Amino acid sequence: MFDLAGKRALVTGSTQGIGRAVAAALAEAGARVIVHGSTSLEKCKRAAEQIPGNAEIALEDLSQEGCAGRLYGQTGDVDILVLNASVQVRRAWDEITPEEFDRQIRTNLKASLFLIQRYVPYMRKKGWGRIVTVGSVQQYKPHKDMAVYAASKCAQMSLVNNLAAQLAPEGITVNNLSPGVIATPRNEDALGDAAYAGKVLAGIPMGFAGSAQDCAGAALLLCSEEGRYITGTDLVVDGGMHL
Ligand SMILES: NC(=O)c1ccc[n+]([C@@H]2O[C@H](COP(=O)([O-])OP(=O)(O)OC[C@H]3O[C@@H](n4cnc5c(N)ncnc54)[C@H](OP(=O)(O)O)[C@@H]3O)[C@@H](O)[C@H]2O)c1
Repeated sequence: MFDLAGKRALVTGSTQGIGRAVAAALAEAGARVIVHGSTSLEKCKRAAEQIPGNAEIALEDLSQEGCAGRLYGQTGDVDILVLNASVQVRRAWDEITPEEFDRQIRTNLKASLFLIQRYVPYMRKKGWGRIVTVGSVQQYKPHKDMAVYAASKCAQMSLVNNLAAQLAPEGITVNNLSPGVIATPRNEDALGDAAYAGKVLAGIPMGFAGSAQDCAGAALLLCSEEGRYITGTDLVVDGGMHL
């Protein structure tokens, strides 16, 4: 089960958190993995060292114009594309700036489409491909101070549904994985605030925050041969928070 030997995988935003756990799971299953980040090559290298096998690295800010072509230029073709990187701005809907709107939409939606455009031709040629976007429980339960972030994830899900139907005849699956509250560097500060954490946890039927590892197995299924009959789905990993 879950043998990815001979497959090459790019996981965007894999220097830490969920992306790094997913990259490690794919590598453990035998894939050759590319670790990607936007901050520094040094950080990418440090993350790659924690991943089994000889992980490659790539650096690109996905909020920038032309990022898809530049990232593809660094990595070349892959069999598995996990679009995990995102920008999340926490600010009331009536205070969000045009720059914050654009940065979230460019990273969380625009880059997803243009990266898929770049990476699909090879998958098509092979008659096999796996694309997983990372969404959020906020597709179902938006946080009042993350209206644009939540909207970007809903729009990305719409792309997934659309492309899944179009790419299915070519052996390419397209799915979304929606984490709930997962303890990662992103929300370390928020969950470190006991009063806030208590309120958040009260909204999770299972009563606890997930770990990045909880998302890794779900992603592995969607990226594997075992997941070949799953496409256009949203795999929600949230302890029941969306219910
Ligand atoms: N954690 C949660 O509770 C939660 C809940 C729902 C959904 N999610 C989703 O899960 C995914 C991973 O979340 P996480 O909590 O693991 O995030 P995280 O700890 O903040 O890590 C984010 C990753 O994305 C990269 N990144 C950030 N901005 C980027 C940009 N402009 N261009 C390219 N890469 C960029 C970062 O790379 P560098 O640091 O190297 O720049 C890092 O590797 C995201 O899509 C997030 O929306 C998370």
